[in-house]
Amino acid sequence: MSAQLNLHKEAQRTFVRLTPRLEAEFAAETNSIAWATFRRRLDAHFDDLFVLLFQLYGDRYDFLYHLERLLAESARSWLDRPQALKDLDAMRERDPQWYQSERMLGGVYYVDLFAGDLQGMRAKIPYFKELGLTYLHLMPLFKAPEGDNDGGYAVSDYREVDPRLGVMDDLRVLATELREHGISLVLDFVFNHTSDEHRWALAAQAGDEEYADYYFIFPDRTMPDAYDRTLREIFPDQHPGSFTYRADMQRWVWTTFNSFQWDLNYRNPAVFRDMAAEMLFLANVGAEVLRLDALAFTWKEMGTNCENLPKAHTLVRAFNAVLRIAAPSLLFKSEAIVHPDEVARYISVQECQLSYNPLLMALLWNSLATRETRLLRHSMGYRFAIPDECAWVNYIRCHDDIGWTFDDGDAGALGINGYDHRRFLNAFYSGRFPGSFARGLPFQENPRTGDARISGTLASLAGLEAALHSGNPAEIDLAVRRILLLNAIILSIGGVPLIYLGDEIGILNDYSYVEDAAKAGDSRWVHRPRIDWEQMARRLDQTSIEGRIYTALRRLIELRKATKAFAGNDMRVINLGNDHVFAYVRSGRQSERVLVLANFSEHTQPIAANEVRLYGLSYHFRDLITGQELKLGDDPIVLAPYQVLWLAD
Ligand code: GLC
Ligand code: GLC
Repeated sequence: MSAQLNLHKEAQRTFVRLTPRLEAEFAAETNSIAWATFRRRLDAHFDDLFVLLFQLYGDRYDFLYHLERLLAESARSWLDRPQALKDLDAMRERDPQWYQSERMLGGVYYVDLFAGDLQGMRAKIPYFKELGLTYLHLMPLFKAPEGDNDGGYAVSDYREVDPRLGVMDDLRVLATELREHGISLVLDFVFNHTSDEHRWALAAQAGDEEYADYYFIFPDRTMPDAYDRTLREIFPDQHPGSFTYRADMQRWVWTTFNSFQWDLNYRNPAVFRDMAAEMLFLANVGAEVLRLDALAFTWKEMGTNCENLPKAHTLVRAFNAVLRIAAPSLLFKSEAIVHPDEVARYISVQECQLSYNPLLMALLWNSLATRETRLLRHSMGYRFAIPDECAWVNYIRCHDDIGWTFDDGDAGALGINGYDHRRFLNAFYSGRFPGSFARGLPFQENPRTGDARISGTLASLAGLEAALHSGNPAEIDLAVRRILLLNAIILSIGGVPLIYLGDEIGILNDYSYVEDAAKAGDSRWVHRPRIDWEQMARRLDQTSIEGRIYTALRRLIELRKATKAFAGNDMRVINLGNDHVFAYVRSGRQSERVLVLANFSEHTQPIAANEVRLYGLSYHFRDLITGQELKLGDDPIVLAPYQVLWLAD
């Protein structure tokens, strides 16, 4: 308690000492309105920032030096922030919960594969509006090594766009135009690692000691062996363990992911300061949300698995405090694809306001395979709740593999053995399980641990690929229903639904990636095809498969946007006595309510009317999707195969 108190006093003293120096440095600008705003925000958030950074770097002799540089960078960044973004900051201050709206809809894809380049992306804005997007995540588009660069996640320069996509000004223009159309640009902040071609890494390779300290570089295997004892292998196909030997340097480098992705050393305050500057640069380009890539891995300590350590949280909070001072409208989205308890710990106003919902994603696929919803119901029943001011980003597919990140305790409580069940799911979704409708590929299968994840597009995993191959119209119909079922859930369960673009027309796996040497070793490319705009055009032809999926999905999107009960994240899972059906009640800010029922089986499923009555819901509903009126009498409610009902009272 008194240590805490002292820390706040220390913060105050530091503030009093540093601000005049800052004002002297910016003497020419301290009379401006912009400076006054900066001062106000600094006043409000300095204490937070100080305390967080003190926890990370307080024992360093150069702590105050770095803090002072950081404040100067932040001031510079705020003064340079374009007026349109300052206006946005002010607007968001008036409506801080903007992302809770039922009108929110996200989309994500690669610039080159969607539209060639950034200019091409601008030309697609009418399409984004047609679909209803209010949030667009463009996959990493920065300068990266030629050939394999992990889909752009090996960044060589955060301030330079990959020349094949355009230049930074194209990105600024695109961000502005998107904003004018009500679409928020989302970019990645890849801050756990840089590529080995980033100038810091190049300097380290040339023997520069200062930059060597930006990474984890070791002369021999002693330290790597000691760390490896407790680390999980993330990309075992790429290299065993978490370190890579660089023959040119005769050194070992920490590389959690690929050998060309060098983990940054956040024990070094210079790394925090310099990465904060890169973050503010992205903020001023016009990003409204930053996706914190691989945030679970950023802090390392010997003897731990180096995932989700307390200081990884401190680090994100410190970055967040910098934003509150210099780019206050920005939000963080957590990309923690880890155990659900750990996912939840990143979600708070002080840390990440938004978070992927990998558990919902994995359990939706689980229910689709097993045709039963007990694990989904049990886990969502108590794991969905997050602070009111925060929001899930609910997705079915993304550019990554599917990992089975459910809790073994949750599974065990239902008599399901987690290890065996993951094996089943991998067999099912790679199409090896007899009778499986799915056509996916294993990703990073680790024969030593039996671990594997799954690649594949929504449509291929949901059965469309196999059904089209068989040519059986009934199977095609079931596959289309599965696709719509999963979408109807992410559109209604609470949070921002995120569509992996191409899925809205049921794009299938593209196996041609194996012909490209830079991609062949990474099966995730099977679900990252180049968008074929002739196929996209068929979305408007209702007799085509693309048109059937797109038309139905568009309708669900419009209904979502018109349904106040779908705002926010107030969701209550209920048990209606039929394990094939997932059911929940959504409540909006006023008294609007919608009861969602989703049948995960290919057979019709009854729900006894008195089960619904038990929950004190109304007796008279209208299904928003079909428009049908429904009176609860003695007869059960009957759901068609894979049907979803959105029952408004
Ligand atoms: C994240 C990205 C993934 C990438 C990894 C390393 O998990 O989503 O695509 O491989 O980070 O950057
Ligand atoms: C790591 C990331 C996860 C990603 C995966 C890539 O586990 O945390 O997000 O899916 O790498 O395979």
